[in-house]
Amino acid sequence: MVVWDYALETGCVAIDAEHREIVQLMGVVHEAVEQGNAAQTATALDRLTLRLAEHFEHEERLMAACDYAQTLLHKEAHATFLADVAKGRKALAMFGLSDTFRQWAFGRLVTWFRFHIKALDMGLGQEIRRHEVSQEGAVAQL
Ligand SMILES: [Fe+2]
Ligand SMILES: [Fe+2]
Repeated sequence: MVVWDYALETGCVAIDAEHREIVQLMGVVHEAVEQGNAAQTATALDRLTLRLAEHFEHEERLMAACDYAQTLLHKEAHATFLADVAKGRKALAMFGLSDTFRQWAFGRLVTWFRFHIKALDMGLGQEIRRHEVSQEGAVAQL
């Protein structure tokens, strides 16, 4: 089970709300896996992938607005994760709810996201807050 905790709060309200929703969607994937339902797992994973892509695009718009120094590294991390999720989705389509898929869904899928928030999104959150103060809230509207 994926649990949200306050150690994952970046301080940027919009980003934190999206992170919480993504964690919830991971929980929906896990429920479907636990029920042994491959079709439902695929649907849940597709929904998660869509929200992840939208969330990453949102963060990247915010990075551009802040002229953020770590943009390249951060965007690369997003692309790497989306490619990994696509690989997981392909494995599910080919082999169903295999042990390898289960390990990935409960392991890497969750740990990567948590690690990414702590390693990169925290810094972005601080940068956005700095811009909020200096630009009177303009960045948060993006
Ligand atoms: Fe994020
Ligand atoms: Fe990110």
